[in-house]
Amino acid sequence: MKILAIESSCDETAAAVVEDGRRVLSNVVASQVKEHIVFGGVVPEIASRMHAEAISSVVENALKDAECTIKDIDAIAVTYAPGLIGALLVGVNFAKGLSLSSGLPLVPVHHLRSHIAANYITFPELEPPFFCLVVSGGHTHMINVKSYTDFEIVGRTRDDAAGEALDKAARTMGLDYPGGLNLDKIAANGNRNAYKFPHPKVDSSELDFSFSGLKTSVINLIHNAKQKGEELPLPDLGASFLSAVVTYLTKNTEKAVKMLGHKKVVLAGGVSANSMLRRDMAELCKKNGWQLYSPEIKYCGDNAAMVGSQGFYEAQKNAFAGLELNAYATMPIDDCSY
Ligand code: KG4
Ligand code: ZN
Repeated sequence: MKILAIESSCDETAAAVVEDGRRVLSNVVASQVKEHIVFGGVVPEIASRMHAEAISSVVENALKDAECTIKDIDAIAVTYAPGLIGALLVGVNFAKGLSLSSGLPLVPVHHLRSHIAANYITFPELEPPFFCLVVSGGHTHMINVKSYTDFEIVGRTRDDAAGEALDKAARTMGLDYPGGLNLDKIAANGNRNAYKFPHPKVDSSELDFSFSGLKTSVINLIHNAKQKGEELPLPDLGASFLSAVVTYLTKNTEKAVKMLGHKKVVLAGGVSANSMLRRDMAELCKKNGWQLYSPEIKYCGDNAAMVGSQGFYEAQKNAFAGLELNAYATMPIDDCSY
């Protein structure tokens, strides 16, 4: 089954053709990063307009690269939630138009489910059940992945996502957007033990996260230093803050995986590209005899190949939508409706 997949939930306009959920025939990503850099983050209005400009040619190129025409395609998968609503609507409406004109079935795909599916592309042998830590710009979830379409959230952030905290910290350090990526680079030359940050605790749950206190403590540290006219060593500060976030993610992952009894640990989402996280998780898994899976770097961030992969498994469950399909800014991963 060949799926044409479309993704426009944030600041990448992407399309891909994926066969049987695992074989990527094409993967086109038009990034808007350059447009948003001057604003220090994604400007939703600009993102929507840029998706509208790019989407036709991105889809056309995805078909061309896969040496396909729309006649060779069996279904159209599209990210419909969660994300920036104006951005999502561009992809959803384009997919609906294509479905109407071609008669092909439409498969709505949850963005975080597709981030998890990025691992099916990198590891053709990987099958649920497994544990997954999803760390994207807007979400931090620990998930018991019971099957391709059955998810149980066992831990989540109560406030900011880990990615959001990294982005805000990076911005305060004067690093360009996308902050997480630039923090990763600068931290490579730093000492992760140079500064101490609190290990946050969340009431009544051992597995939930809270990143807002950590974020505030690094912002305060930087502002206080500025007021005193002190220059902070950014590589050390970046590495120490990253270490606090990564250690927190790793400790809770260890608790959750032990509780669930899984042997397979999967990373997903933009932050799963982070070198320190990948290194620490590899160590944790080695110590416990668990197998670690993390997507190839090009499939960590937003792309449509992962949408085509998850779309295949949704289609197996007959999770098709009609032309009334809408987009949603929020949508739980474990209880999707459309
Ligand atoms: O999954 P994603 O591409 O988009 C959302 O669905 O949100 O995740 C974006 C997040 C941003 O917070 C970005 O700073 C972070 O992923 N990110 C990284 C790295 N690359 C991207 N964070 C840390 N290290 C990286 N190498
Ligand atoms: Zn994403």
